[in-house]
Amino acid sequence: MLSDKRIVLGVSGGIAAYKSVEISRRLVDAGAFVSPVMSSAAKKFIGELTLSALASEPVKTSLWEDEDPIPHTTLGQQADLILVAPATAKLIGNYAAGISGDLLTATLLATKAPVVLCPAMHTEMWEHQAVQDNINTLRERGVIIVDPEDGILAGGDLGKGRLAGVETILSNVELVLTKKDLLNLKILVTSGGTREPIDPVRYITNRSSGKQGYALAEAAFMRGADVTLVTSMPDFAPVGVKVLCAETAQEMNDVVMRNQEDFDIVIMAAAIADFRPELISEQKIKKIKGSTDLKLINTHDFLVDLGKGKRPSQTIVGFAAETEDLESNAMEKLKRKHLDLIVANNVSLPGVGFSYDTNEVTIISEDSKWTVPLSDKRIIADGILDAILEIR
Ligand code: CTP
Repeated sequence: MLSDKRIVLGVSGGIAAYKSVEISRRLVDAGAFVSPVMSSAAKKFIGELTLSALASEPVKTSLWEDEDPIPHTTLGQQADLILVAPATAKLIGNYAAGISGDLLTATLLATKAPVVLCPAMHTEMWEHQAVQDNINTLRERGVIIVDPEDGILAGGDLGKGRLAGVETILSNVELVLTKKDLLNLKILVTSGGTREPIDPVRYITNRSSGKQGYALAEAAFMRGADVTLVTSMPDFAPVGVKVLCAETAQEMNDVVMRNQEDFDIVIMAAAIADFRPELISEQKIKKIKGSTDLKLINTHDFLVDLGKGKRPSQTIVGFAAETEDLESNAMEKLKRKHLDLIVANNVSLPGVGFSYDTNEVTIISEDSKWTVPLSDKRIIADGILDAILEIR
């Protein structure tokens, strides 16, 4: 997701400096080229070697010891983004006042790249008017501030000031660096399996983890869309996305059909149950009966309604989970359900579809076809969104 992006990771001297090591590793894993810069105080908290080993190049710490006579301008000019995590009160103060006492502050002042600052300090310091004034000044200048969180601080104190979580920091970085090619589009994504109740404690479901739907919602949000996710598993929903809950096929039908008019694009990634128990027992069915009959009846396939009723400017995307004849089965569903695109995956292959973090898909329209080989579901999500943009 961050392929070919050059990120300067600035680390200033606070106890949260140890978390910069994990941040660096995750940025590198996501494809970024990470140039670490440490303040001299940061060196008291973590070893240079640790950060160097997990970044893309050795740590730089000084304006004077580098072969490059002007390391701050080189770093600042080459960067696509500068991330400072953690940012101490001193670093924030110097940056706001334009004081370049070391390589990190000099790099911050010498760059035109976007800057993401993640403050971490004791609650009293964070709440001090001087720090808040500096934060407001930086915000007004366009610096992205990832607010600290509540929690246990160094010394066992409790309060606001903990460095934001790694996931939150990474999503902010990705949000800044992602091209906004879905701006002004409203996208509805359904995700996860539905749960069809048998009695008050039991239900029928399927192997869907919801991961492909979440990845689609997250990717669309990063690319600038206004995203709503309809899911039976709201707890894992990505940041920035509006969530509507729907447990059963009927509830998903009702929520989607009630709202669909508002959306430019509807992506039906949910694995909606095709069958549900005809009768739902009001009381828990007792095992003492020895056996029980469970008659299943079809749920309504509302993707057909969506396809038939779509507005001319609306794009309707379905999924096809197949175990054989992938493309012909998917093409049949595309036509029968009047879809613009269908995303077909062969869920009998290892690493593909349900419960995996990876997927492999063939995306089919009336007259085109795109294949995305076995990859992380986020990469698949971007491939699907690319195909949608191509046909719109
Ligand atoms: N779908 C739906 N309502 C249902 C069942 C499925 O809207 N009651 C949607 C799914 O969200 C998916 C698409 O239909 O986008 C295809 O689902 P899939 O299970 O692959 O195919 P089915 O049409 O159910 O056919 P079959 O199970 O026989 O392959």
